[in-house]
Amino acid sequence: MNYTIALLAGDGIGPEVTAEAVKVSNAIAKKFDHELNWKSALTGAAAIDAVGDPYPPETHEVCASADAVLFGAIGLPRFDNDPSAKVRPEQGLLRMRKQLGLFANVRPTFVFPSLIDKSPLKRDRIEGTDLVFVRELTGGIYFGERGRQDEGETAYDTCTYTREEIKRLARKGFELARSRRKALCLVDKANVLETSRLWRETLQGMEAEYPDVKVTYELVDAVAMRLIQWPSAYDVLITENLFGDILTDEASVISGSMGLMPSASIGSEVALYEPIHGSFPQATGKNIANPLATVLSAAMMFEMSFHLKEEAELIRSVVNQSLADGVVTEDLADGAKAYKTSEVGDYLVSLIEKA
Ligand code: IPM
Ligand code: MN
Repeated sequence: MNYTIALLAGDGIGPEVTAEAVKVSNAIAKKFDHELNWKSALTGAAAIDAVGDPYPPETHEVCASADAVLFGAIGLPRFDNDPSAKVRPEQGLLRMRKQLGLFANVRPTFVFPSLIDKSPLKRDRIEGTDLVFVRELTGGIYFGERGRQDEGETAYDTCTYTREEIKRLARKGFELARSRRKALCLVDKANVLETSRLWRETLQGMEAEYPDVKVTYELVDAVAMRLIQWPSAYDVLITENLFGDILTDEASVISGSMGLMPSASIGSEVALYEPIHGSFPQATGKNIANPLATVLSAAMMFEMSFHLKEEAELIRSVVNQSLADGVVTEDLADGAKAYKTSEVGDYLVSLIEKA
């Protein structure tokens, strides 16, 4: 088959890690006789510098007409350190999510058997961990009204959700739970927030449609704790936007390195795949960043957007193999030889060719 993929490398290490995912995807395409047509487009700080807009209309065109989007990372310290900056790279990401209708962010956390002792958590706590967050991505406090009052001395951000926004996200969660261990946990703060009470009420009203899925309701502060104490207890967790942002970073360290976890942002049509880590500016251009989260994001793309499960499985299996063989970047090397970003990609390609 023929697929067009929008390639948004973005900032920092984005270009380096996406380059490896492209290499690996092309090797898979060659092996299984597919044709991948990559279309690069500007986003983030790179796009601000070039055209003054972190998500220019040309980029939206490329994304909207592609079969999938592969995204690197966004953000640079010169913007983080300047709260008065009018145009910020992150605005591009938020606008992209909104304009492409990517209302659900699917972020898995799982452990690699060969890395279990690299996790900051004890082996007996994390063995068997295999959970997925479905985070709401185009609503809540990220998109609510915000501003300043009292000559700038007071600031406010507002969180709003409609029942319909909650329902469409919840459906993704229920369906995903159905294809897995059939347990769905709604994470909220219903003891305080009105939006959370609407989330709870909406989910409770949907339970009858999915009688095979067991739904539990937990408060976000308790989940933050249980996630570290007992991560293997969870299957699918659904959250509003901000809680999901925070908890998915927390969950990502369980696997041993933030450089490992992929994600998919889905909605109605085109889907976007990206590593959950950021732009890691200190490592830019050094060829040391871990490309595996982006490579695994490409695996999610083959599976979810192209429905090519065997291809996705092969990517996951060569990633596992490279970890077991110790062909890893410095974040995982632990005193042993550290390989370069591009060497890890080359090794994955060689394993695919041999498979
Ligand atoms: C993420 C990031 C973004 C978010 C930032 C860069 C706007 O942290 O994808 O989790 O908060 O959603
Ligand atoms: Mn985040």
